[in-house]
Amino acid sequence: MKKIVALTGAGISAESGIATFRDANGLWEGHNVMDVATPEAWERNPDLVLEFYNQRRKAALDAKPNAGHRALADLEQHFEVCVITQNVDNLHEKAGSTNVIHLHGELFKSRSTGDESLVYDVEGWELKKGDCCSRGTQLRPHIVWFGEAVPMMDAAIEEALRADIFLVIGTSLLVYPAAGLINFIGEEVPKYIIDPELPGIPERNNLHLIAKKAGEGVPELAEKLIKEYTS
Ligand code: APR
Repeated sequence: MKKIVALTGAGISAESGIATFRDANGLWEGHNVMDVATPEAWERNPDLVLEFYNQRRKAALDAKPNAGHRALADLEQHFEVCVITQNVDNLHEKAGSTNVIHLHGELFKSRSTGDESLVYDVEGWELKKGDCCSRGTQLRPHIVWFGEAVPMMDAAIEEALRADIFLVIGTSLLVYPAAGLINFIGEEVPKYIIDPELPGIPERNNLHLIAKKAGEGVPELAEKLIKEYTS
């Protein structure tokens, strides 16, 4: 079975009603990212950070996967598929994808501020001051904030190196190390970028640009790949 590796970003969840990060005025849901998504923000104002992620969790609880998520999940019937996502929502899993690497953490998990190996599921939408790990220290959102290491990057690179087909869907490719994954993909490997506003990246071999929304572009590409590689 051929292996598809898909790097996804906020754009794939946009049609499910989840806001992307880099809107016109540079704010994320009314906040400067540095006020809500950094270790310094957590030190300075944990209430604001908890509340910010509680609101994101609330929105994600009600969100449903769209045709883009579903098409990626359905590709598992024909290919070995690994989804490497920068998104912290769980829409890929809700759509049925079984091999998802969350580079930037997961909204529906929390972890101990005392011992980062203690990770828990968050039931519902709320994580509060006073919610503690089994050793009694405060829980924080299980999110990779700006300035923090990206522990899942090695696993993502390992998957990328094994790709027969590489997809990039709905990401501005502005945030590293995630944006650098494409540099691990072999020259001969077909690379498809799906985004209505295609990110500017250097020319490379076997690069196909599809200026469409994920909900339209991913199902169309999936159909083409199935025809091309499995019939
Ligand atoms: N379908 C596909 N792509 C879309 C759609 C859509 N319906 N709507 C918007 N897009 C594209 C935009 O054109 C843009 O290129 O999605 C991309 C979203 O870019 P960003 O908002 O920068 O999101 P992302 O690339 O995922 O951000 C990376 O930055 O803030 C951090 O940690 C956060 O994971 C996030 C990382």
